Amino acid sequence: MKAVIPAAGLGTRLLPMTKVQPKEMMPVLNKPAIQYVVEEASHGGFDQILIITNRNKKIMEDHFDRNFELEMVLKKKGADKALKELEAIEGLADLFYLRQKEQKGLGDAVLIGEHFTSAESFAVLLGDDIIISDIPAIKQLWEAHLKVRAPVIGLEIVPEDHVERYGIVDPGEEIEPGLFKLNSVVEKPKKEDAPSQMAIIGRYILDPDIFTWLRESKSGVGGELQLTDSLARYINTKGLYGMIMKGHRVDIGSTSDWLKANLEVALLDPDIRPKVSEYFDELRSQGRI
Ligand code: UTP
Repeated sequence: MKAVIPAAGLGTRLLPMTKVQPKEMMPVLNKPAIQYVVEEASHGGFDQILIITNRNKKIMEDHFDRNFELEMVLKKKGADKALKELEAIEGLADLFYLRQKEQKGLGDAVLIGEHFTSAESFAVLLGDDIIISDIPAIKQLWEAHLKVRAPVIGLEIVPEDHVERYGIVDPGEEIEPGLFKLNSVVEKPKKEDAPSQMAIIGRYILDPDIFTWLRESKSGVGGELQLTDSLARYINTKGLYGMIMKGHRVDIGSTSDWLKANLEVALLDPDIRPKVSEYFDELRSQGRI
């Protein structure tokens, strides 16, 4: 099964951290963000993964490649745990890379995956959205896709004040708990115009029709090519479904989100959690928060 991970964006909201360091390589606790995403795809059954990069993101390829020198040093030291972790990264999936030459938006990045995905349904996972869940979020969507035999996109209920940041859906009929046949999708609506608080987040199961629509819209737009506009074309054809995935999403798109993501993941680690709580107790007792 094939997955595409767009990771070619400029990450301008995280500058200056992202001046040379790709956003997707920013650490979240002890791993770069994109490793969580590749692990989710791999554990979800996607064994061929295309990462969309750009000329300044070669470091992502290096991260998933073998590093013999480091392995030798770890072997000599008897650092078995670290060695196993390195081997696990290298064995995640067959990884492929293509570059997006100009940052023309998410739709344009997905379009680069056209020849890789060929005629099959495929997954798209955004490289800067991490979803912590027992069952990999993308697998949950794939299973829904097998039931409805149509594209399925991941949804999350967001606070009313945040709808302007996302693509928002009109959920239509709930065909089973958390799975909706969508009536419409709208990109970044005003709070008063939003059809719901269900936001499209970074997980999708799509099929090759999306490329035809992306290509058509590409010729009509001068600026960024959105994915949402082309997703809407499914609604009046084979149908588009949305699913509220079970899990917890952490986003690293802005500096405060990235900091929160680190804390949230740290709190899930049984060894680190007590240290974080202790630190916050200390800050509180000193009146610093
Ligand atoms: P974002 O819009 O959140 O990322 O895209 P960005 O453009 O890098 O960030 P800002 O707004 O400038 O801070 C969501 C995902 O889509 C990828 C990004 O790398 C990110 O993983 N993306 C975005 C592309 O691959 N190409 C693009 O042209 C835009």
